[in-house]
Amino acid sequence: MSAAPAIPFFNYPALFERDEENLIGVLRDVLRRGAFILQKDLAEFEAMLRDYLGVKYVIGVADGTNALILGLKALGVGPGDEVIVPPHTYIASAASIHLVGAIPVLAEIGPDHMLDPRSVEPLVGARTVAIMAVQLNGRTCDMDALGAIAERHGLAIVEDAAQALGSRHNGRHAGTFGAFGTFSFYPAKTLGGFGDGGALVTDDDDIARQVALLRDHGRDPSGRVVAWGTNCRLDNVQAAVLGYKLRTYDRDIARRREIAAMYDAALAGLDDLTLPPAPDADPNHFDVYQNYELEAGRRDELRQFLADSGIGTLIQWGGTPVHGHAELGFDVALPITERFFERCFMLPMHTALGDDEVRRICELIHAFYRGQE
Ligand SMILES: Cc1ncc(COP(=O)(O)O)c(C=O)c1O
Repeated sequence: MSAAPAIPFFNYPALFERDEENLIGVLRDVLRRGAFILQKDLAEFEAMLRDYLGVKYVIGVADGTNALILGLKALGVGPGDEVIVPPHTYIASAASIHLVGAIPVLAEIGPDHMLDPRSVEPLVGARTVAIMAVQLNGRTCDMDALGAIAERHGLAIVEDAAQALGSRHNGRHAGTFGAFGTFSFYPAKTLGGFGDGGALVTDDDDIARQVALLRDHGRDPSGRVVAWGTNCRLDNVQAAVLGYKLRTYDRDIARRREIAAMYDAALAGLDDLTLPPAPDADPNHFDVYQNYELEAGRRDELRQFLADSGIGTLIQWGGTPVHGHAELGFDVALPITERFFERCFMLPMHTALGDDEVRRICELIHAFYRGQE
């Protein structure tokens, strides 16, 4: 048993502590103004994110799940429609499709853990209206291939970019490829708030107008109710925190990429592991490493060994792909995804993680495999 301090999978207190004074200052400013709902901090954050992504509209909403629901509604997706989505995603992606009355149709994942374009096209049928590209782990799908399929069949592309703010494919930002893209600001996300938060981004005037109405009781800017809507606003206090963090976001991404490169260099020689694409592996992809998700043949033993040494790891979605939730009525076999879920897990990845901690995690993984020789 190592005497070194534990390294938790994620470390909220460390992330807060290292910038505590400034963060409290941001909160104090909002609280002193009593500026809670649809105030200037929200408008400023939306404008900053618009500039950051180079997109026409950003609408802050309650969370990433509701961003998807509102976006699908605005796009007109509803009963009788099918939307193709990967099984390696949070249940929220598929749930948003179900909750607007449509059917989530599950395709396989490819070697990069993302929706595999080759498995998408055979699933396109008369009722298919959209492909939901899930930009997972801070990486953007092969949008050229998905875009070509969408074009051939007259489908919309929508992006669940909850895990991929700042990620790019061919220089273009995740979230900006299709009819709309959505982001989550859940506290553990690369841009995380102090609670739930989300945003929908789009270049489409009509989708933007509808989502803005939907998120605020159908009220137009004058306060007149002009449509049915709900309450789904991004809190002003969250927007202030997110706006503050967005100013230095590129530095956070650079640190995540550094950590990924360290993992990659240290673990590359271990035959039992399959590592995620390295930061500089493909010039067409810029990944922001929301997660460092890898595969191991001896996953459960390795995780136990790391846990015994005080290292936290996690299996995404509690280890269950979307179609594995028996109560939801899926009847589909997806062998590639199922094999992946027997092997996948994630190592610690956040911006308060020190080089010494990354090195220790890697040394322990090497020690585990040495012990197996
Ligand atoms: C891929 C994916 N989609 C959707 C969501 C939902 O976002 P939120 O938790 O903000 O509702 C998440 C967040 O965990 C996610 O990782």
